[in-house]
Amino acid sequence: MRFLLVILCVTTALYCCADNDMTNRSQLDVASEKMLGYINVIPLDSTAIPRSLEEDGSLITGNSRQWTSGFFPGTLWQLYSYSQNDSIKKAAEDWTAFIEKEKYDDHTHDLGFKLNSSFGKAYAITENEAYKNVVITASKTLINRYNENIGSIRSWDWNADVWQFPVIIDNMMNLEMLFDATRFTGDSTFHHIATQHALTTNEHHYRADNSCFHVVDFDTTTFEPRLKTTHQGYSDESAWSRGQAWGLYGFTVAYGRTGNDIFLDRAKKSAQYIYNHPNLPEDKIPYWDFNAPNIPDEPRDVSAATVTASALLELIRYDQENTDWYLSWTDQILESLATDKYQSNIAPFLLLHSTGSVPGEFEVDQPIVYADYYYIEALLRRDAIK
Ligand code: GLY
Repeated sequence: MRFLLVILCVTTALYCCADNDMTNRSQLDVASEKMLGYINVIPLDSTAIPRSLEEDGSLITGNSRQWTSGFFPGTLWQLYSYSQNDSIKKAAEDWTAFIEKEKYDDHTHDLGFKLNSSFGKAYAITENEAYKNVVITASKTLINRYNENIGSIRSWDWNADVWQFPVIIDNMMNLEMLFDATRFTGDSTFHHIATQHALTTNEHHYRADNSCFHVVDFDTTTFEPRLKTTHQGYSDESAWSRGQAWGLYGFTVAYGRTGNDIFLDRAKKSAQYIYNHPNLPEDKIPYWDFNAPNIPDEPRDVSAATVTASALLELIRYDQENTDWYLSWTDQILESLATDKYQSNIAPFLLLHSTGSVPGEFEVDQPIVYADYYYIEALLRRDAIK
């Protein structure tokens, strides 16, 4: 659902502060201050959870069913963990509560995006058992989408005329919740399914050059891939930027939770692919697809950069040989994002220039909530390393 609001610009000097010298902590201070202003002007509404902006500047929102519903509350939780500000905590609690009912929705694979980003973060920060129980229930729901013959969790149910059992690279991001569910319950089923899903994705989504397809569709009779295609990328054979970042992040988590070297190798190769691509701009903020036809006149995707930065700051823990490289790369990303070019003063967004879907013609070169979520996660991880 789209809900029109007047553009809400926060105009005090405090918020117009980005400069090239902002440290990671000052980026967190600025983000916390911005968010304190924003929560007073975004009405609390379960049907209007912030997501992005229309081209005319009106706010795009939706109810808890949208795949992005967990990111705004998750950003609030993370900023609360940094600032310890009670108003931000109250907003985090209120927006998070709207999403709980999604824990029973078995028509989507996006349960990790929705519930781990919100309830999972809430539990990690507060240790409130009620939040943990929501993550466990959501995990029980999600594993109903697992096909043991294919070895994957089904992504989408729509477009059934074309796809039989589509699995998108984004689905790697739902595994962390399953690994956590085993940690919380002692039931290894979740861990086993997450591990097998990652093995299957490693086998079938990746190309010889270490880029990945967006969508792999499996035959429900033979259990083999029948189509390798895209939905949000430039072409079936292109490297959709956020997809590369989802893969890097997902395989880093999978290695961290399993110790399986196949996953570490995949994460390292994904990082190499992204960093060494000739179309990665000097400021390290990717275009929306590495093979977009009109580079450099193509929209950027800041969300691909923030997912990458957060993933690299986790990968540092497992791949010590490349620590200096990962750190300098993430610092380049975070320094770029600290500049006026990328900083947003439009409520409730922290960053500009993300791209949802060029083929779908929505959220192109706009602020988007998930870019902010991974931005704050990256800043917190970077801050913890110092
Ligand atoms: N998971 C959908 C996207 O990355 O746009």
